[in-house]
Amino acid sequence: MAEPTQALAGVNNAVYRTLGERWYEADDDPIALLRAESRLRNPWLTRQIERTLGTGSRRVLDVGCGGGFLANYLAASGHRVTGLDASPEALTVAQHHDASRSVQYVEGDALALPFPDASFDVVCAMDFLEHVAEPERAIAEAARVLRPSGLFFFHTFNRNFLAWLVVIKGVEWLVKNTPRDLHVLRMFLKPAEVAAACARHGLGAPELLGVRPSLGLPFWRLLLTRRVSSDFQFRFTSSTRLGYSGFAVRAPLRTNPTGADPLLAERGDVPRSRRPR
Ligand SMILES: C[S@@+](CC[C@H](N)C(=O)[O-])C[C@H]1O[C@@H](n2cnc3c(N)ncnc32)[C@H](O)[C@@H]1O
Repeated sequence: MAEPTQALAGVNNAVYRTLGERWYEADDDPIALLRAESRLRNPWLTRQIERTLGTGSRRVLDVGCGGGFLANYLAASGHRVTGLDASPEALTVAQHHDASRSVQYVEGDALALPFPDASFDVVCAMDFLEHVAEPERAIAEAARVLRPSGLFFFHTFNRNFLAWLVVIKGVEWLVKNTPRDLHVLRMFLKPAEVAAACARHGLGAPELLGVRPSLGLPFWRLLLTRRVSSDFQFRFTSSTRLGYSGFAVRAPLRTNPTGADPLLAERGDVPRSRRPR
């Protein structure tokens, strides 16, 4: 799919069309880092959905779903999942790995989502916002297709010298087969920028968690072999200076007389917001 929005991005999005089964199998490729990140994020994300929206099957859209690491996990957990990506090749791989056989995989552009307003309970954009030239349009589209009180999850990278050194140069130097422009510093996003864009599109202040690699044996093995072993781990941290995950709640349509969102107030479980840095 020739995506005008992708061509503008400057980041290498073409690589996701060429991976094939390497999405799930390669340890000599930075895609293995994405797999490792998803092992940390997926259970966290399902816990947050349950904590905030309660248990039960939710309508989830995974934007820029790639090979389906999250979409397939959520479907296996009983959610009704749609995965959207600009790469038909990635979607074929994702579908092949969907054990639930229930995910609707759709080729499309995150900046012009082919869904009606308010059609999902949860929208996810993991490792995605830094891959488009207009991340705010992606956030606006996510907010549009979210129903009131729905959840917007994201993961992206902070824009600073440390993130350039570790996330861009560190990966280029240390992980085999890292393509040029896998990430581009100017497309990284400061937490305050994401929060401001969320606010402009009716999403509440995001609750944020920093993400960094665990410095155990698999990390040192990576330094020696330039391969990412299957036990490589990321962990959550209070610092958002490298990568960070977060979620924001779509403003409710109407509030009750106490001013609280009825869905959240019912559960007495309003998420805390941390001031973005
Ligand atoms: C780094 S991958 C992330 C994949 C997945 N979210 C994950 O965390 O495993 C970025 C994905 O965004 C997709 N992408 C880039 N620009 C897009 C756009 N404008 N619309 C939809 N998908 C896009 C790419 O094809 C790629 O699969």
